[in-house]
Amino acid sequence: MKNGQVELKDVVSLCKRRGFIFQDSEIYGGIGSVWDYGPLGVELKINVKKQWWKSMVYDRSDVEGLDAAILMNPETWKASGHVGSFQDMLSDCMGCKKRFRIDHLKGKDCPECGGSLTPPKGFNLMFKTRLGSVEDDAQEIYLRPETAQGIFVNFENILNSSRQKPPFGVAQIGKSFRNEITTGNFTFRSREFEQMELEFFVTPGEDEKWYDYWVSERLNWYLSLGIRKENLRIREHAKEELAHYAKKCHDIEFLFAMGWSEIEGIANRTDYDLKKHAELSGKSLQYFDSASGEGYIPYVIEPSGGIDRAALAFFVDAYRTETVRDRKRTYLSFDNRLAPIKVAILPLLRTNAEIVEKALKVRDDLRGDYRVVYDDTASIGRLYRRQDEIGTPYCVTVDVDSLSDGKVTVRDRDTMKQDRIDIAQLKTFITEKLVLC
Ligand code: GAP
Repeated sequence: MKNGQVELKDVVSLCKRRGFIFQDSEIYGGIGSVWDYGPLGVELKINVKKQWWKSMVYDRSDVEGLDAAILMNPETWKASGHVGSFQDMLSDCMGCKKRFRIDHLKGKDCPECGGSLTPPKGFNLMFKTRLGSVEDDAQEIYLRPETAQGIFVNFENILNSSRQKPPFGVAQIGKSFRNEITTGNFTFRSREFEQMELEFFVTPGEDEKWYDYWVSERLNWYLSLGIRKENLRIREHAKEELAHYAKKCHDIEFLFAMGWSEIEGIANRTDYDLKKHAELSGKSLQYFDSASGEGYIPYVIEPSGGIDRAALAFFVDAYRTETVRDRKRTYLSFDNRLAPIKVAILPLLRTNAEIVEKALKVRDDLRGDYRVVYDDTASIGRLYRRQDEIGTPYCVTVDVDSLSDGKVTVRDRDTMKQDRIDIAQLKTFITEKLVLC
């Protein structure tokens, strides 16, 4: 534990052992800062995305969804400023040859060997690729470094095809790519990651009000899904930290073992992006307000979160250990909505065919709306520990008595309290406890 949090090396180990996250292409030695989500990790991520989509789209009537492509016309990135400004300033050590980000350096010499550093050089973080099959004709394009631009270039399409007018937003979840220089801290800084972004278009002059609204909405979202208050904070960007498009930005930070780190940023992007796209594309990209008879380019408030970072924060915050009857118990106290597996069905005696048959029937009757698993590969104590460690909120045990009284034992992960429930009532009992959306 560090900063009261589980250390990332222990998270990495649990994630690999239990099937949350693997190193990408591991059999070939992996590839730097690219990760694969295993059977449990994919469920966790799906659940995080579901909750975000619910709060951003289904619970509101002023937000539309979008799924824009990763590949975009390269003019997009000229207009957005990413070709010119999306770069880290780097210096190489002339002695040990290591490379450093200027903003991470304290002195003017190499922090590793004390050698002299080269003058800083800009390094663009966008991945380049080529469009078309013939090398000579190929057009150089980029993998998107943020999902936001897919929303800006579709602004007119969405205005024309929906009934929205400012204030309204467009929500999108999708992959982004950055050729990060300083990596590490597990999935925290990956080269391929997923973002959940909302671009909220407002009338200029109302931007400050909406900005404050979104900072508080987004903080509450993490709290409502169980992250403890003391592990979250809001930090305002100093002027020199602001991205090239932002007038103001607050980060939502989580206290990881490595210290407070950004999991989401809320920025006031003003009319920067739409204006630049209007200039370069020649389209007007204005909203025409029929009431005033005037057109204007809306301002944009952008809550932009990373799914990988959110999932990591939910995981770290849920990680608990305690001693029960002289034995260490590790469990993940996920909110039920985020838990990868909701219910595990465990037969007390795997050698008893009747118990096994009944347990499988309980599993089949319960599954369909959420992930239910059956496990009979160890003793009941070990099976409980395994489910605790992956954060399964309920274990249902089928025993000899179940064959005569038609009841099963439901064990709560956090309290370890056990209830005896009629099998006929089980689905209702569990569904009420899960409070799924
Ligand atoms: N459209 C605004 C934007 O992209 P950002 O602060 O660069 O802003 C937003 O990124 C969020 O995306 C971050 O708060 C973080 O959660 C996630 N993110 C950014 N770079 C990441 C990386 N290399 N690995 C994992 N997540 C990343």
